[in-house]
Amino acid sequence: MKKKNSFYITTAIDYPSGKPHIGHAYEKILADVIARRQRQKGKEVFFLTGTDEHGQKIEKYAALAGKTPQAFVDEMSGKFMELCKILNISYDDFIRTTESRHISVCENIFKRALEKGDIYRGKYEGFYCVDCESFYLERDLVGGNCPVHGKAMQWIEEEGYFFKMSGYQQKVLEHIMANEDFIRPKARRYEVINRIKEGVKDLSVSRSNFTWGIPLPNDKEHVIFVWFDALINYVSALGWPDGERFASFWPADIHLIGKDILWFHTVVWPAILLAADIPLPRAVFVHGFINLEGEKISKSKGVTVDPVELAQKYGTDSLRYFLLREVSFGEDGNFSEDALIRRINSDLANDLGNLVYRTLTMVEKYVQGTVSGKRVAESESTLLAMADNLAAEVDEKMAEYDFSRALAAIWALINAANKFIEDTKPWILFKEKRESELNDFIFTLAYVIDKVRENIAPFLPETAEKIQRQFAQGRVKKEKPLFPRIENAD
Ligand code: ME8
Ligand code: MG
Repeated sequence: MKKKNSFYITTAIDYPSGKPHIGHAYEKILADVIARRQRQKGKEVFFLTGTDEHGQKIEKYAALAGKTPQAFVDEMSGKFMELCKILNISYDDFIRTTESRHISVCENIFKRALEKGDIYRGKYEGFYCVDCESFYLERDLVGGNCPVHGKAMQWIEEEGYFFKMSGYQQKVLEHIMANEDFIRPKARRYEVINRIKEGVKDLSVSRSNFTWGIPLPNDKEHVIFVWFDALINYVSALGWPDGERFASFWPADIHLIGKDILWFHTVVWPAILLAADIPLPRAVFVHGFINLEGEKISKSKGVTVDPVELAQKYGTDSLRYFLLREVSFGEDGNFSEDALIRRINSDLANDLGNLVYRTLTMVEKYVQGTVSGKRVAESESTLLAMADNLAAEVDEKMAEYDFSRALAAIWALINAANKFIEDTKPWILFKEKRESELNDFIFTLAYVIDKVRENIAPFLPETAEKIQRQFAQGRVKKEKPLFPRIENAD
């Protein structure tokens, strides 16, 4: 039985066919904020991420790099780990599908489906996109090309094995209908329901035109289709069937994914789980795509940006802030370096950075570096009331996974605090030696900043730590400004 207090969140596992891009960074940041918030609320969190290392796509990119697939994924998955490190992603486990702990579970689930009679031999054919590792119907193609990658399709015809997904169509649909929050946002839910109603086709789950994959337990001439393999990471990482982690954390609370892999997570994955007699996850959260200056990310067209370089150049929390603030969850968003710089200069350097720096300076100058004073009566201070209400407001926005409005609520308090400084004119209090008023003024600011720190911690963990350090135990220790202004974009 899943532990009451446990919370299991996963990201998609990325194809390490190239370096990570900003879409990968975005997904990990979203998941990290959710994981950190749940930990803050006392939940026992298990946060899983990783890399999806088998399949034709990986084999192809390894060959292009002149490496064996294993050497290639060993190197490339390291880049995804590096990305997590620099973005401050607090994952609890990083799964690689080439690990034996994954392979054995995958074989086991495949065998179960075989024994149930859910896998049969047949012939498949269709338009295949190697970069998606997915078949498309002719009507879904855009100008004859893949709707996600815009690349030419491959026509595939092959003998192989099929997974009888059609047999689970009704059960999957019932699960979606019975659980309103299973697929979020709502628009994605309707999209899936409509597509299921058009009919669920069986899935070809083997390949024999290349070799980089897990051999079928019953036929070594074929490897398991990469999606059947990859989805299973969500339970292999927990040590299904007997692992203690599996017992404590499954079913997953949230599978966080991008919009292009909706069908695999809301229909294919539930069907696999049903075939293996494993309970279904609680929710699939679907985010939109990040575009670059209005264009789709595309390595081949050179439309790409390295998130590691961005974090190094502008700071991890600046990048996190930008993506969380600028993009509405569920919708597509746009990245541009100019827009990032604007956000850094206005929201981070000007609003938050200044509030903290000015306050520290005033504590040093006006009250000998020590925060004392007392809480001004509630009725006198709308600012304190606002600070006390902040957590509830952030909770309300985050219940809707509205990262952007949650941050906007925090920034409303930051801006009110800056205005409070202008309105109070502490330099006059200081000149006139109105000590107790000055103490109360400082107390209020320190109180507000502490609420800001607490609430931004899941979003901007490094910044929250810096603030905490500088205000430790009432005795301040000013460091350099949190966010230096970026003077000119190059
Ligand atoms: O799909 N903006 O891997 P992947 C935002 N291995 N998110 C994006 C994006 C963009 N421009 N481009 C991709 C795979 N993503 C499979 C997943 S899970 C069992 C297997 C998201 O490297 C994408 O939607 O192509 C997915 O959630 C994740 O990045 C990994 O994409
Ligand atoms: Mg993809």
